[in-house]
Amino acid sequence: MEVIRAEKMGFCFGVREAVELSEALSRKEKNKRIFMLGMLVHNEHVIEDLRNKGIEILEEETLLKNEDDLKEGDIVIIRAHGTIKEIYDRLEEKKVEVHDAACSFVTEIRNTLVEMEKKGYDIIFIGDKNHPEVKGIISFGERVYIFKDLNELIDSGIDKNGKYAVLTQTTLNKNNFEKVREYINNYFPNAEIFNKICGATFVRQKAAEKLAGEVDLVLVIGGKRSSNTRKLYDISKGINSNTYLIQEAKDICTDWLVGIEKIGITAGASTPEEIIIKIENKLRGIIDV
Ligand code: F3S
Repeated sequence: MEVIRAEKMGFCFGVREAVELSEALSRKEKNKRIFMLGMLVHNEHVIEDLRNKGIEILEEETLLKNEDDLKEGDIVIIRAHGTIKEIYDRLEEKKVEVHDAACSFVTEIRNTLVEMEKKGYDIIFIGDKNHPEVKGIISFGERVYIFKDLNELIDSGIDKNGKYAVLTQTTLNKNNFEKVREYINNYFPNAEIFNKICGATFVRQKAAEKLAGEVDLVLVIGGKRSSNTRKLYDISKGINSNTYLIQEAKDICTDWLVGIEKIGITAGASTPEEIIIKIENKLRGIIDV
């Protein structure tokens, strides 16, 4: 039996930077209180590790209800998905030290949105309005029309002659983006389209797709709340019905491995390498028994 890794998997650069920034602060600022706003990244192991290093979770809700006890000089780290404008404003009022770990892909979309509105464009945004990344980005705009996908845009009856900037969630599937681009180019004469899809997501999805076709069973490793992990699972499951989503080594059921020759593994963008290695070791242990 063989264990094969996807060609690209695990921590993306946005997650790595957020985690490294937090760890560096925990080492340097021993005398200050440090908080992460919500889950810094969508992985419980990473969060537990940061808590053990002295970084506490401050929920956005608590801050919005003014029920926090933040004091001047406390440190607050904004998570990799970014957050809503109201939170940035609150933190500024409280005079805390803000470290923004929002991924540069996310801040680039946010900045483009603000800039294009200033130039007189309305915004068409394609994405999941309930996802924290999207909530954060669109909170910086005043004239945003949000659609979950191309069909919703088509059904909306929006005035096609308006002046629009078209933006999307970082994790939008590339093929769906191309469909949106084609539709906009055909029917919206005054629209500008921006491709800000995160490359890290795309290459992980492509690698998962390839892997799923080459092995007998796929383990997708990642947090239950991680939407990019869920997408890897869906892609793999669509190709290989022997696909399982696990968070850690103890989730592996030995029955799954009966008669299996090649096991493929892939992992979401917020899954740390040490978890992946533990899983590989467990698989090798089972294999060797
Ligand atoms: Fe950024 Fe893409 Fe990762 S948006 S946080 S590099 S999945």
